Amino acid sequence: MRTLIVNGTVVNANGSSEADVLVDGETIALVGRGLAAQGITADRTIDAAGRYVIPGAVDVHTHFDMPMGPVFSKDTFETGTRAAAFGGTTTIIDFAPQDRGHSLREALDAWHARAEGHCAIDYGFHVSVSDVNEATLAEMDGLVAEGVTDFKVFTAYPGRMYSDDAAILRTMQRAAENGALVMVHAENGIAIDVLMDANAEAGRTAPWFHGLSRPAGLEAEAANRVIRLAEAAGSAVYIVHLSSRDALEAVEAGRARGAAAYAETCPQYLFLSLDDLGNGFEGAKFVCSPPLRPKDHQAALWDGLRRDSLQVVSTDHCPFDFHGQKDLGRDDFRRIPNGLPTVEDRLDLLHDGGVVGGRISRERWIEIASTSPARMFGLAGRKGVVAPGADADLVVYDPARRHVISAATHHMAVDYSCFEGRTVQGGSDIVMSRGRVIVEQGRYTGRPGDGRFLRRAPTGAALRRRAL
Ligand code: URP
Ligand code: ZN
Ligand code: ZN
Repeated sequence: MRTLIVNGTVVNANGSSEADVLVDGETIALVGRGLAAQGITADRTIDAAGRYVIPGAVDVHTHFDMPMGPVFSKDTFETGTRAAAFGGTTTIIDFAPQDRGHSLREALDAWHARAEGHCAIDYGFHVSVSDVNEATLAEMDGLVAEGVTDFKVFTAYPGRMYSDDAAILRTMQRAAENGALVMVHAENGIAIDVLMDANAEAGRTAPWFHGLSRPAGLEAEAANRVIRLAEAAGSAVYIVHLSSRDALEAVEAGRARGAAAYAETCPQYLFLSLDDLGNGFEGAKFVCSPPLRPKDHQAALWDGLRRDSLQVVSTDHCPFDFHGQKDLGRDDFRRIPNGLPTVEDRLDLLHDGGVVGGRISRERWIEIASTSPARMFGLAGRKGVVAPGADADLVVYDPARRHVISAATHHMAVDYSCFEGRTVQGGSDIVMSRGRVIVEQGRYTGRPGDGRFLRRAPTGAALRRRAL
């Protein structure tokens, strides 16, 4: 099957041009001016006049079907990847969580079983490590060889996913040898537990106190600590879901010293704030960790994106229904399952707030949502770029179309939206995954199982040299 996309503006991270795109089978065959006039034919021609032709977005941080206490995140691989596709995202990387006392292999096998045959778009895995020991460190090498090239460790969640400094250092040392990238959830969980318990025991049990129990300084402390550990180990480090000006300063200080420190932020930290945690128990809809910050942190994060101190915007999509899941914590914020539903909205929010809002160029929009995540997570040249040889993961994007985000119309399997009623400018009209149209005119035209597992190249060594 050959598809010719004509009359559009191709937007890549390194520039935009008026060009046609020829898709042949699963990949992009040609990008150039006037391909139709040159006699190139196709089975289908799509007229993209007035619209952008952009690489399908890459979301390197999702949690589908993930257990959290007594509940599971609401989107399965089927519903979550379909919702991602509606939002112009054509690649996701999900986290396979290791259970204490079990191997990394068990975690990965379980995640393969959950995803295989269900995904609408291509997918990869990271492994979240909760039990660092000789056996799990040795397992890392084999997983890297299988294309699972990064491992998340936590300074948060004592007694569950938490690793101490020794465990994190040893993970980083191993990564320096096998080329993996270590991702870190950086919050001082030991101190946070003291603050959470003190608030709850004093009767301060509303969602608002989730935010107050996790101050930005304790995110910055952990970010600084793990960057120092990475420097000691000679490895790169990638801070996930960075939420605050304070943590950003720690990353920038590390980068100024020459540390191979990288970080992502998420739409919730760019568009929502601590204020959303107020309003009584409604605030539970906005409980995630790290928490939403006072509004004035947002400008600092946008600055960080412009300066490339933050390289990626991922979602940390981890959806829980308000009714029946979030409300487990009605009497105690510590029992509210942490996480927000955002996988469908990222590209449009960044276009609206970033490009239309004058904060970033349209090329930087593509870079932080597609190109840079693909490059940093071992998919360079394959995903995140409109160029010959790349997978034909393409979006015909209307930069002028306005729509209202709402739980009534979104495709995520969750009963509320964090952005309910917000009008955004920009939307994905046609979404193509490896050459096949999977979303068109608001309809899903793909099938569960279209998406394939992506074996990714290790990037730790290049990132350590700051060469990516
Ligand atoms: O609140 C969050 N972020 N939930 C997802 C799990 C995690 O720590 O990334
Ligand atoms: Zn996390
Ligand atoms: Zn997460």
